[in-house]
Amino acid sequence: MEIVKVKASKNYDILIDHGLLDRCGELIAAAVSAKRIAVVTDDNVDRYYGQRAVDALQNAGLSVVKYVFPHGEASKSHAVLLRLYDFLAENGFTRSDLLVALGGGVVGDLTGFAAATYMRGIEFVQIPTTVLSQVDSSVGGKTAVDISGGKNLVGAFHQPSLVICDIDTLDTLTPEFFADGMAEVVKYGMIKSAELFAILSHKDIKSNMTDIIKRCVTIKAEVVANDEFDRGERALLNFGHTLGHAIEKHYDFSGISHGYAVAIGMSTFTHIAESKGMCPVGTAEKLDVLLNKCALPMTTDIPMDILYKYSLGDKKRSTSGIDIIICNDIGESTVTKMTLEEYAAFLGVN
Ligand code: GLY
Repeated sequence: MEIVKVKASKNYDILIDHGLLDRCGELIAAAVSAKRIAVVTDDNVDRYYGQRAVDALQNAGLSVVKYVFPHGEASKSHAVLLRLYDFLAENGFTRSDLLVALGGGVVGDLTGFAAATYMRGIEFVQIPTTVLSQVDSSVGGKTAVDISGGKNLVGAFHQPSLVICDIDTLDTLTPEFFADGMAEVVKYGMIKSAELFAILSHKDIKSNMTDIIKRCVTIKAEVVANDEFDRGERALLNFGHTLGHAIEKHYDFSGISHGYAVAIGMSTFTHIAESKGMCPVGTAEKLDVLLNKCALPMTTDIPMDILYKYSLGDKKRSTSGIDIIICNDIGESTVTKMTLEEYAAFLGVN
């Protein structure tokens, strides 16, 4: 089993291996003192893994209740959150009990925010079951729900007590869902690791997932240790996301998946950066070859002036400008502060 240590306001381990779901009871019992667990999951994940998680927890002597909500981004809402609070209160949950988020990013973000706020904060454990949640959203303590004004606009930093990544749970992802998460994996190679980028480019991805996930979460753990509260270096994780979020917004957050939009954002920014001499010639082509290998898109027909307008709603925007992430080479990136005029010029918008 691979173990990556996160050193933040709370220290915790990320465990990565095959077959960990059926061992989650013993792993959780070894990491936390809670004896009562609420497993929170969605109906899709529950169908595959809910009972196995409950059995593993009960076999470790833990008392378990389960809360299941409908899958999809629409569930990352205050309505589902309020029902979860009620469920916890009805079952007498206190601050000495534990939530377990079993599923993808929606489950992790919603459960994490419930854990951050129920009784002013209780412990939670992440068992991410998608590529995206294993490499990104389960690590680093960002929790949130969506409001009508935008995605993730209400949230809290609340670190989990343990993250358990069972590589086998990725087997039930559709090819599109797997590809979607690979956009974040490619992102880590672009922003921080030429070695990871080379592995992704030259090796068989599926048979190297334990190593790949470990490399991604090691990078994320370092970034979070340096900038837990997102005031500097953590913005690098936003590479591809400024334009990506704009593309998602154009499709009203339902016509394109997050990873696909981020892939287009990474490719578009890298082509522009290369044309302006901000990265070596050939960088964008190497990125596009890898995105193609991962079955991810690179371009969009949406006019750039529309994307410019939507990207001004990004959380990385301040009153004076916007923070743009540029890869100066494969494995190297910087946060570049631009005024809105500079950003418009960068995108070629008049
Ligand atoms: N998903 C970006 C971050 O954790 O900062």
